[in-house]
Amino acid sequence: MTRAARSDTTWVFGYGSLIYKVDFPYQQKATASISGWERRFWQGSHDHRGTPCAPGRVVTLIPSPGATCRGVAYLVEQEVFEHLDHREKNGYERYSVTICLDEKEVEVDGLIYVATEDNHAYLGPAHLEEVASHISRSHGPSGSNTDYVLQLARALRKLGDHDPHVYALEALLTQ
Ligand code: BEZ
Repeated sequence: MTRAARSDTTWVFGYGSLIYKVDFPYQQKATASISGWERRFWQGSHDHRGTPCAPGRVVTLIPSPGATCRGVAYLVEQEVFEHLDHREKNGYERYSVTICLDEKEVEVDGLIYVATEDNHAYLGPAHLEEVASHISRSHGPSGSNTDYVLQLARALRKLGDHDPHVYALEALLTQ
């Protein structure tokens, strides 16, 4: 592995809606992974898949030694972060990570958006059945919360990823 870095552009790693909703310009796109993190539907959504009175549930990342999270990395110009910061303003903050780009077998420095337990919209863990039931009745300006899960599961399948948490929720929501 080699490490590559350019100063005028930054890699951002998408593990949720950034995988399939690409409403920003990018210079390069690559399937990728980050080590030590796992997806969880533990973040409340007040502005996309729910409302402030009835938040939906969307993904965040939790630290998980030994785990790998697969997704898509985009090389973007700094201006793109104004758009992404606004899009993901409901409790997410940027963190620095090392991203492994699949095809090139290269490691790059980059950023991820993570919603940690100290943000106002954080919901935290719950039994999977409870999470599915919550999602099944949630809707917001970006559409139904169920569609969010199904779109993410479809996108992960296309990447060849196996994420038991996402696929189990998908199964509960489509049974
Ligand atoms: C992502 O797809 O990487 C993402 C998910 C939630 C908030 C921000 C970014």
